[in-house]
Amino acid sequence: MRWETPAQAGVQLPFKSVGCGLVIPIDQIEILNDAAMHEIDALQQRQQSEWSTRNQGETVCTFLGQDLCVLPGVFPPRRDTVLLANSLSWSGVDNVIDVGTGTGALAIAAALNGVRNVVATDISIAAVENARVNVRQLSLQGIVDVRLGDGLSCLDATEKFDLILANLPGRNKTAGNAVAAAQWDTGFKAHRALFSQAPNHLAPGGSLGMVKANYPDLLDMLDLAETAGFVPSIVGRSPPVDGDIRTYYAIRLQPEEQSQTCP
Ligand SMILES: C[S@@+](CC[C@H](N)C(=O)[O-])C[C@H]1O[C@@H](n2cnc3c(N)ncnc32)[C@H](O)[C@@H]1O
Repeated sequence: MRWETPAQAGVQLPFKSVGCGLVIPIDQIEILNDAAMHEIDALQQRQQSEWSTRNQGETVCTFLGQDLCVLPGVFPPRRDTVLLANSLSWSGVDNVIDVGTGTGALAIAAALNGVRNVVATDISIAAVENARVNVRQLSLQGIVDVRLGDGLSCLDATEKFDLILANLPGRNKTAGNAVAAAQWDTGFKAHRALFSQAPNHLAPGGSLGMVKANYPDLLDMLDLAETAGFVPSIVGRSPPVDGDIRTYYAIRLQPEEQSQTCP
């Protein structure tokens, strides 16, 4: 297994890390234990119930200084979403797709940072409606195209991206409904499909940007990515805070043939 550093390809890479410094080598990630995962189970069940019963009236959250509405059943942008957005450098990035856009937060971050062509997609009808509301409220309709779809299936074969953002559900756990499917990816189906289809839609020098909590599932996800020919590196880290025991990692996945070893 090879752990690459984030910035070998210099300006090609849409991530902030510089030189050969990794935020942390992947083999130093501390994974939560079984007792902690029981806590996470309880927390996620509570959250899913809260999100499902959220009032029809719009909930508003603040994301990177913007007020975004959060509709019933939709994942609100949180510490993980902010970490991924803050781990990116948008300079030289022209085309972005945000897979599993939820409220549209990451797609909106791309547009507000000057990316001219952004696609936002989600498998959840509520999320697509939610992202469209936020895109319209911020007058970004000319830049962000919100589409309903499973993974990258909404794309034409010719559509290519410098950056594929995917804050997909962090756990391989059976999701019984659309709200649970914001946190649990049954059989890692969405991840498998993404890793197999992404190479067809990456522009030269392009990469994937993901964010994950330190669940045991993270290691399985990295194995899937490596088997599919991607080289992962950690480009951002958000340690536990305010009673939340999770550490989040922003992860860049670069096609193997483009990655270089640090001198
Ligand atoms: C963890 S939430 C992240 C939402 C948003 N990106 C954010 O960071 O705030 C995961 C999102 O992925 C969506 N999703 C799950 N499986 C998907 C799939 N196969 N294709 C597209 N979107 C999917 C869910 O509906 C949910 O909105």
